[in-house]
Amino acid sequence: MSGLHVIDHPLVAHKLTRMRRIETPSEQFRRLLTEISLLLAYEVTRDLPLRDVKITTPLIESDQPELVEEPVVVSILRAGNGLLDGVLQVIPSASVGHIGLYRNHDTLEAVEYYCKLPPLAERTVIVVDPMLATGNSASAAVDRVKADQPASIRFLCLLAAPEGIEALSANHPDVGIWTAAVDECLNEVGYILPGLGDAGDRIFGTT
Ligand code: URA
Repeated sequence: MSGLHVIDHPLVAHKLTRMRRIETPSEQFRRLLTEISLLLAYEVTRDLPLRDVKITTPLIESDQPELVEEPVVVSILRAGNGLLDGVLQVIPSASVGHIGLYRNHDTLEAVEYYCKLPPLAERTVIVVDPMLATGNSASAAVDRVKADQPASIRFLCLLAAPEGIEALSANHPDVGIWTAAVDECLNEVGYILPGLGDAGDRIFGTT
């Protein structure tokens, strides 16, 4: 499913406000991110295809739905791992890939330093990264995932800047974006405003 999906839920909005506060310590930040990612995971998987299977309850045989296939989750290191924990609580048997990208601070371009992916051909892939800022890392990660010919790709983030949505949608119009909020803009060094700062630093306490 392509397009932009803003997850409009009071619990998500409340938790996100707590995450944005400068005084929220890493321990709470991580816990809030895991809690929000459970809610985001429900939304990003809402239309996954089901098939009926015959089962036996303690009382009767019956046809009941199960997922045709579990999606693959690909985390953009390192901040993506903060979202991954919650997503895996909802889809515990998903296979997981990691793509390591860092931002060249002068050009803001994404540079790949690591990539380990499970088989992706014909699978539904959910790429996770809390911040969709310039869209450079997201686009580079989707380029890499597309090389393995998945059936479809979804991008799941916590916060998106209009610039990042525009860039990712222009580069990959077939990739749907799920986010808890769309913020105002980027500052001159590519941070989202009002944002929440550097997600990786806040998750891992490296500020
Ligand atoms: N990455 C972050 O962690 N924060 C931003 O605001 C932008 C990119």
